[in-house]
Amino acid sequence: MKNKLRSSRVVIIGTGAVGATTAYTLLLRERISELVLIDANKEKALGEALDMNHGLPFTGGVKLWAGDYSDCADADIIVIAAGASQRPGETRIDLLKRNAGIFDSIIQNIVKYNDHGIILVATNPVDILSYVSLKKSGFPSNRVIGSGTLLDSARFRYLIGQNKKINPRSIHAHIIGEHGDSELPLWSLANVAGIGLEFSAEDREEIFNSTKNAAYEIINAKGATSYAIALALDRIIVSILQNEGSVLNVSTLLTDYNGVSDVYLGVPSIVDRSGVREVLDLKLSDEELAQFHASANKLKGEIANLDL
Ligand SMILES: NC(=O)c1ccc[n+]([C@@H]2O[C@H](COP(=O)([O-])OP(=O)(O)OC[C@H]3O[C@@H](n4cnc5c(N)ncnc54)[C@H](O)[C@@H]3O)[C@@H](O)[C@H]2O)c1
Repeated sequence: MKNKLRSSRVVIIGTGAVGATTAYTLLLRERISELVLIDANKEKALGEALDMNHGLPFTGGVKLWAGDYSDCADADIIVIAAGASQRPGETRIDLLKRNAGIFDSIIQNIVKYNDHGIILVATNPVDILSYVSLKKSGFPSNRVIGSGTLLDSARFRYLIGQNKKINPRSIHAHIIGEHGDSELPLWSLANVAGIGLEFSAEDREEIFNSTKNAAYEIINAKGATSYAIALALDRIIVSILQNEGSVLNVSTLLTDYNGVSDVYLGVPSIVDRSGVREVLDLKLSDEELAQFHASANKLKGEIANLDL
């Protein structure tokens, strides 16, 4: 029997490629007791719930149903994966206008029923929509989290692992900043067993470009990304519910962090039952610092145009 926490309810809003795959991942992992699916397209949520429930004889005892916002009342974590996704050639920022609009009603509906849970945002542009969720919910910032650059860091670790022929689980490496085109790699921190990793300039360029452009490549090939983001969301959810204190590159509100304030960006953060307990203080090189500021300023410029 897995170490399942009692009364752990997760609600997923938006049961498209990301939401449904995340639900399926949570079901297979069996670390939660209740899972609720909500979608503007009720038939879609119903169909996904039915399909997954038929797998329960082969998994464990997660109670799963298609619900509505009143089910948020007892939720420990509410995942938002609702809204438009990138079409081939679109950037994440291109989604902002369409998705900021739907967040108004989603957040209003959540806070109508829940004042104690953790909001975990996956919808893009994830950093800006996490900030929007913070402002619209009135929740403390530790309880409004974006998936941030956790997925990008996983892609980075995978590609470094391929380059060095080492299992990516043994690679420690971080992508920080926007989950998007202005993100940056921290080469100086990439290590195996505490030993720094050396790369040629060509390898660096190839690894980082492949990391940054991974979503474009997958969306061109199959229309959506789903498996790795689902595993990343599962990692955050389990770290919260099991009070792990794992260090994850989630998107969180920065306050006087390397000279950056009042914006959400992905940085290494300690995640436990309180949500983001602490942001780790990174010592950035001058070049990294300049890139990090550019990433922050890009998102702040977009936020300034929003009605918050
Ligand atoms: N954070 C990440 O790393 C990451 C990774 C992949 C995708 N994403 C983002 O996740 C989002 C979802 O992507 P997808 O591929 O699952 O899209 P999708 O089109 O497959 O699914 C979106 C779902 O949201 C539902 N929806 C739309 N408006 C809604 C509303 N107001 N309330 C409830 N449900 C609503 C739709 O009916 C649909 O089922 C996109 O914004 C995408 O860019 C983020």
